[in-house]
Amino acid sequence: MRISVIHGPNLNLLGVREPDVYGRVTLAEIDRRIDELAAELGVEVTCVQHNCEGAIIDAIQQAGCNADGIVINPAGYTHTSVAIHDALKAVVIPAIEVHLSNILAREEWRHRSMTALACEGVIGGLGVDSYLLALRGIVALGEAGS
Ligand code: DQA
Repeated sequence: MRISVIHGPNLNLLGVREPDVYGRVTLAEIDRRIDELAAELGVEVTCVQHNCEGAIIDAIQQAGCNADGIVINPAGYTHTSVAIHDALKAVVIPAIEVHLSNILAREEWRHRSMTALACEGVIGGLGVDSYLLALRGIVALGEAGS
């Protein structure tokens, strides 16, 4: 099984970006933990990070051709992007949305996720564990579907 992990804008700054909200863990460390779990689960994972909406859409479309599932943290685009929503709808593979923080416990404008409407599920508020649980979830979905 092949899983595509897509990190959205500003997540390349994890470690130094608002550590009171996102903690001190870097994106490289998150990807390392994802790779470790993927090896344990016996699945192939590729992790990419993009700051631009179009590049995220390209990554989703590519995953639609090459992968069996998507784990995505659309970051700031979560709350605004019709185009990422539509890309997730356009591909036939399932996606799980991830957030490091609990977006429902933050500013009101973060409470709405446009992209989650196109996902099978959402996991948030658990830091790096949000990603690890989402990976387990997408693998379980794939196994249930196959
Ligand atoms: C985030 C939450 C978003 O609201 C924010 O814009 C981010 C990160 C999270 O992982 O908690 O960039 O997606």
